[in-house]
Amino acid sequence: MTLIPFDDRDGSIWWDGAVVPWRDAKLHVLSHGLHYASAVFEGERAYNGHIFKLREHTERLLESGRILGFEIPWSADQIDEACLQTLERSGLTDAYIRPLAWRGSEQLSVSAQATRIHLMVAAWAWPNLFGADRMKGVRLATSKWKRPHPETAPIHAKAAGLYMTSTMSKHDAEAQGYSDALMLDWRGQVSEATGANIFFVMDGALHTPTADCFLDGITRRTVMALAAKRQIPVVERAIMPDEMGHATEVFVTGSAAEVTPVRQIDDLHFDSGLVTATLLKDYEALVRMAPEQVRLQLAA
Ligand SMILES: Cc1ncc(COP(=O)(O)O)c(C=O)c1O
Repeated sequence: MTLIPFDDRDGSIWWDGAVVPWRDAKLHVLSHGLHYASAVFEGERAYNGHIFKLREHTERLLESGRILGFEIPWSADQIDEACLQTLERSGLTDAYIRPLAWRGSEQLSVSAQATRIHLMVAAWAWPNLFGADRMKGVRLATSKWKRPHPETAPIHAKAAGLYMTSTMSKHDAEAQGYSDALMLDWRGQVSEATGANIFFVMDGALHTPTADCFLDGITRRTVMALAAKRQIPVVERAIMPDEMGHATEVFVTGSAAEVTPVRQIDDLHFDSGLVTATLLKDYEALVRMAPEQVRLQLAA
């Protein structure tokens, strides 16, 4: 696979209200966000030129900043507009959009009250987190790293620092030949994959861990609403690893992962079945609708 480095591409990046040539969007190495992970971000997808659930992503970005103790100096309308302009300028209709806010270089110590808050938005083509053959189902290996207690880390923020153990877990899983890691939480309950939420089909119902120590994904909530529309019962509850063997189907959800079947977790094997196929199809249809239609669909 040829990797195209992210700092050497054509295009432009929205940065603090200006449009900067892609290769010039460089940051000083003494930035607080880089040293202390004082950064929050979003991962969004555009389909047919519309960014799916844009306002929800923008609101989560603003809230993530507040959880980390800073106010992003742009309104929700301005951030939405920055994302839409970035998409338009990219020339893409189907794209991944990445807004990121971080503390600047005015101070470089744990205390960073005087740092300026910056915001950037970039868009690029990124078909799916798991690549072209994801429909065969991905394979997860349980990580040794756990999702933390909500008083240990700001687990409801999409905060850069939380991805340190995600990357370590994903690398461990990849080193063993798996696609991704399954993360348990500090209690030993099933929580999520490294960048996607998880669902199990058990006795015809959809079971998913209660989002009390990991990100309650926008895709997760969308899929739960789609399941309800199909009269598929949805159960949010604590799920222990030894229950996973009762599942007949497993899938993960996320803006980057979309709805992706899981065919293996450690030594357990799963088939991709009707519930996964139905929700995958419903999700793919929904994301391709105009924002107003999406609202109507989910309200109905
Ligand atoms: C750790 C983690 N969990 C869950 C998700 C799914 O969230 P969403 O559906 O809002 O993209 C993501 C992706 O953003 C993630 O990084």
